[in-house]
Amino acid sequence: MSIQRVNLLATCSKQINGYIEVPGDKSISHRAIIISSIAHGRTEINGYLNSTDINATINACRVIGAVIKKNKDTLIIDGNDLERHQRESIDLNFGNSGTSMRLMMGILSAQNFSSTLIGDESLNQRPMDRVSDPLLRMNADIKTTDGKPPVSIDPVQSIKCIDHKVDIASSQIKSSIMLAGLYGENAFRITTPQSRDHTEIMLSEFGCNISIESDSIKMDPGKPISPKSIQIPGDISSAAFFIVGSIISKNSQIIIENVGLNPLRTGLIEILRMMGANIHITNIKKVNGEMVGNIHTESSTLNGIEIPKELVASSIDELPLIILAASQANGKTSIRNAEELRVKESDRILSMIRMMDAFKISTDEFPDGMNVYGGSIIGARVNSFGDHRIAMTALMASLVSDGDILVENCKNIDTSFPTFIEIANNIGMDIKIND
Ligand code: S3P
Repeated sequence: MSIQRVNLLATCSKQINGYIEVPGDKSISHRAIIISSIAHGRTEINGYLNSTDINATINACRVIGAVIKKNKDTLIIDGNDLERHQRESIDLNFGNSGTSMRLMMGILSAQNFSSTLIGDESLNQRPMDRVSDPLLRMNADIKTTDGKPPVSIDPVQSIKCIDHKVDIASSQIKSSIMLAGLYGENAFRITTPQSRDHTEIMLSEFGCNISIESDSIKMDPGKPISPKSIQIPGDISSAAFFIVGSIISKNSQIIIENVGLNPLRTGLIEILRMMGANIHITNIKKVNGEMVGNIHTESSTLNGIEIPKELVASSIDELPLIILAASQANGKTSIRNAEELRVKESDRILSMIRMMDAFKISTDEFPDGMNVYGGSIIGARVNSFGDHRIAMTALMASLVSDGDILVENCKNIDTSFPTFIEIANNIGMDIKIND
């Protein structure tokens, strides 16, 4: 079911049980589509995420000359051979998708046409200078509006490969630099704290010369060559809703098959295990350079912890769910060093403080995180602030609340997980549209 309306009502349901698969990984889908689009040859992408964020990337890749045919589970992409595409100037709307806009800024900087990049209300508030600054140093002609969209890009003679030092643990920043760097001439290095490495893995799958050391990436420019087919694993960030839902509710047991388990994405599993959760992983294998496996979870008793700084980047999109889990743990859980949450699809620290207030769960707010004190969640009406992950986190709370949960402003669930309601209801939840 695709969500047409805005408000969703989750009636208390005390347990979830079953065997599920979640849609393709959003981060890996973006990279597979972008790199296939600039590659030499035809690529078949299986199991991609069919969502509005991914459509924003597909739309932008068509603009640079890639030919993309869309079936339900498969994309067929004929790449543009790393040509610096020429066409009339264009306005591109990236909707809610920060990943699409930031990664495409790198590619669009190297094209022979002008583009103006905008987004929806949320994306237009998000920082883009973190990407435009390094691209400017690579000779791109790129301007933001006070650091935010609209972003305007004009053609340049050449993109220059230089070494970069990036202080933010952001995959989007390093990915944009790497993608722009393909159009340059000499080898270069990016020194940066660790963040998800799907771009590095995908570029290697496409034959690019890239080597990774602990704090830096070294790569050569050059044309990606299609490996012919790419299989996208299930998205751990989508699986996360049912992992946490099954752990916090009673008498629950879930198996999620075929989930991406890249070690730079599995902070949620490590944190939940530290809190006492029973999580087992089976059938681990490598598919197109990415770890994949089945995740088994069950109802568990959780204890509050201090979340280690080293696990923040690898759990960044799951921190709202960790806050929900913490509300069901004994004692206090502390999340710090997570200031990046302030610049996601909503200010996720504030969104979660408001949600916990509505649920009557005590918290302390900090500029870079929060403390959460375990307690009982009451039925409530909450706002998702138009943020998909906040909306779905609030709906999962209906597994432990003493009354129904009404979540306003849920349309953006379609950006990352259009089949969320269908899967949730199939395993025992009761979520419906409420006008
Ligand atoms: C993403 C990287 C992360 C993450 C986002 C997706 C990606 O953002 O929060 O949802 O696909 O590269 P940052 O790069 O800003 O850390």
